Amino acid sequence: MKNILCIGAGHVGGPTMAMIASKCPDYTVQVVDINEERIRAWQKGKPPIFETGLEELIAGTRGRNLFFSTDIASGIREADIIFVSVNTPTKTAGVGAGRAADLHFYEETARQIREHSVSDKIVVEKSTIPVRTAEAMTRILHSDRNDVRFEVISNPEFLAEGTAVRDLETPDRVLIGGNDTSTGHRAVQELVEIYAHWVPRDRIVTTNVWSSELSKLAANAFLAQRVSSINAISAIAEATGADIDEVSGVVGMDNRIGSRFLKAGVGYGGSCFRKDILNLCYLAESHGLMEVASYWQQVVDMNDYQEHRFVSRMVRTMFNSLTGKRIAVLGFAFKPDTSDTRESPAIPVCLQLLEEGARLAIHDPKALENARRDLAGTGEERVAFCNDPYEAACGAHAIALLTEWKEYSQLDFERIYRSMERPAFIFDGRNCLDHTLLYEIGFNVLPIGKPERTRL
Ligand code: UDX
Ligand code: ADP
Repeated sequence: MKNILCIGAGHVGGPTMAMIASKCPDYTVQVVDINEERIRAWQKGKPPIFETGLEELIAGTRGRNLFFSTDIASGIREADIIFVSVNTPTKTAGVGAGRAADLHFYEETARQIREHSVSDKIVVEKSTIPVRTAEAMTRILHSDRNDVRFEVISNPEFLAEGTAVRDLETPDRVLIGGNDTSTGHRAVQELVEIYAHWVPRDRIVTTNVWSSELSKLAANAFLAQRVSSINAISAIAEATGADIDEVSGVVGMDNRIGSRFLKAGVGYGGSCFRKDILNLCYLAESHGLMEVASYWQQVVDMNDYQEHRFVSRMVRTMFNSLTGKRIAVLGFAFKPDTSDTRESPAIPVCLQLLEEGARLAIHDPKALENARRDLAGTGEERVAFCNDPYEAACGAHAIALLTEWKEYSQLDFERIYRSMERPAFIFDGRNCLDHTLLYEIGFNVLPIGKPERTRL
């Protein structure tokens, strides 16, 4: 029986290892983390992150061939294959601040692996990292040690939050990149065998290490670019009277373009898109490819612009002043079905609304705790966190819908309208409500990239 270790029990490491343990009963899978609270939650069978189907998945494997621990050293000693799935945030200080990836968690992990290893290991990069990290990792692992061999391979994860279990069970592709050497090929093959327990062989793609690392950044950049492209068109739609959903429907019918990731909104969020594009820009710049960097930078700039545009439109529509006005914010997570608020457009939107002097009443079915943390120290005396959307809307001058939770489209808007100030505004930042119905109820309705329906 082979031993797999995963360092980092977060959004990627936890679900991925649960799936491997479930599909590969012939492997023992151990997940370790420095965060004791996280590990305790996993050990109790109550994952610290919310993912549909995850609890059921670990219920069948926990204690059988899936184990959680904070004992990183002995985990490393016993492992044959080590997945590294620690966080790689954007640097906040020093060279490349705000753009380059902060690899100190990664480096720290490499040093731990080097220190505690007593046998040869395959080390698998699972987190999204800058191109050529495998090389740095290999150098750290081998410095001062000739007795054990480390083969570093890249296996980026493409799962999206909220659909992690489904994405892991039926991935579009599994990507494994290794060195073009006999040990590199052997290591790649070992990982192929693991995934082949449930993924069809033709979906398991093997490449060289650098292609694998770059492909992950490129895939996220392409996805984000589609969202920024449709958001750019949404601004033109608002100016001209076109309807962005009609436009994206038509554009997406072209087989060469495809219909997914063309939904206009208040902007993309999540831990990956911004970070990975900035990483790509930094990479391009560090190779002197300034035009390439500024091309991708525009995808981020357009996202910032869309968030900013959303608030400016609110201010303009509400008679150029939000001072003292109560705004109900519906949704704070960066997308539905997750409590994750990392890079959520709700953060800059709320901060700008506060700057305009508004009072906020924020509701989210799962992300209120994170919202509280994100807005700490930013005029909280003007922010209320509400467990009930009706309470948030009561007495509000406007509703800003920022996350398309299903329950929002099922709210009783007659009741909400009755409880609000007049004129009552709805800014639908995700185009997920019935705008005709809302207008008939009496609201002034301002969707993204569609003609507004106002009575003013
Ligand atoms: C993304 C990638 O999809 C995934 O492959 C990668 O591994 C990690 O990054 P994730 O961040 O979980 O996954 O969310 P995703 O579903 O891609 O959505 C990202 C953001 O884009 C959300 O804020 C979403 O609201 C927004 N979005 C997405 C749009 O605004 N319009 C769309 O059409 C699609
Ligand atoms: P991702 O979305 O990439 O999975 P998360 O932030 O959800 O990122 O998870 C990363 C995890 O890695 C966190 O739980 C963090 O505590 C853990 N971690 C960071 N550094 C180390 C380390 N040196 N050893 C073990 N775990 C670590």
